[in-house]
Amino acid sequence: MDAPSSDPLAETATARHPSAATVVTSDVAVAADFIRRGWPVAFPTETVFGLGASVYDEVAIRRIYEAKGRPSSNPLIAHVVDPDEIRKLAASIPDTAQRLIEVFFPGPLTIVLKRAEDVPDVATAGLATIAVRMPDHPIASELIRAVGTPLVAPSANRSGRPSPTTWEAVREDLDGRIACILIGERSRSGLESTVIDCSDDVPVLLRPGSISIDALRRIIPSIRTSEPGDQALARSPGTRFRHYAPDAELVLVTSSREAVPSRDAAYIGLDAPEDPAQFGLARVCRDEAEYAYEIFDFLRECDRAGAVRVFCQKPQPSGIGLALLDRLQRAADRA
Ligand code: TXA
Ligand code: MG
Repeated sequence: MDAPSSDPLAETATARHPSAATVVTSDVAVAADFIRRGWPVAFPTETVFGLGASVYDEVAIRRIYEAKGRPSSNPLIAHVVDPDEIRKLAASIPDTAQRLIEVFFPGPLTIVLKRAEDVPDVATAGLATIAVRMPDHPIASELIRAVGTPLVAPSANRSGRPSPTTWEAVREDLDGRIACILIGERSRSGLESTVIDCSDDVPVLLRPGSISIDALRRIIPSIRTSEPGDQALARSPGTRFRHYAPDAELVLVTSSREAVPSRDAAYIGLDAPEDPAQFGLARVCRDEAEYAYEIFDFLRECDRAGAVRVFCQKPQPSGIGLALLDRLQRAADRA
């Protein structure tokens, strides 16, 4: 891998890429070349699109924070293609983590472990732990292999915006702010990975996702969930920041009858409103999985349509519904 300092343009983290235009490509070799030269690249995964740089390239990692406008205290997930790479990133892999890796990798699960000494501070926001995940996506795997190191990658959205499930959504947020977008199909899952902290004796769920707590407890029954204000959440800085919010005001409702129809209002949920045509935009989903798959895309569509208020029906807090509710509550919380 080229040292970042061999690229004169890479001297400061704040330098912009010389071509303001963002290259959109389906060529993994082109994308890998940008990353090797220190320029973060957006790429598809099965959950949402990520914005990746080598875990060992501090300058490039600072560029990720800058492009997203992400608080530097919010650490990144390292994406690997081979379980052996986890051994190099982590100081140790407890049995709990090992079993989860065997069952759920590759897939939408992120595991927090004590980190190895040579992982740069900037990759983990100075924490003593590192989050790792192995995406289940052929293009992501090919890119990590082509670069030759694990890639740290947050979701490829401007900080605070809904996560991108299409490469067009990445472009909407980051055009001219990143060097390259590696295109792929719309993400299969639509919500980010489940995050579980295995760095301590009792594993703690830090972020619900498409792998449910029940599925995790079938493997590790002792897993704890965290409540707002829980000590364990202090270890996951991402849970402190406002997230996923569209420009429109997001209002949670228990039933479609509570949604107030108007041309500048939108509705999404499982129950059909009495007259969907009275809303500027309305989406009725078959089940929680479809709702979760649609939500980020729908919120972006609402912004493009200039919706002022988006009514979202609360899902049941179990299975994928728990992950969806988590995202909706954080998007509704404008504090
Ligand atoms: O599905 C996903 O996880 C996507 C794709 C691109 O892989 N990535 C993603 O990254 O959602 P991001 O940065 O948007 O969210 C990462 C979450 C944040 O809440 C962050 O605080 C938490 O993981 N996290 C990262 N490293 C951590 C660590 N060492 N300890 C605790 N939490 C950590
Ligand atoms: Mg994110």
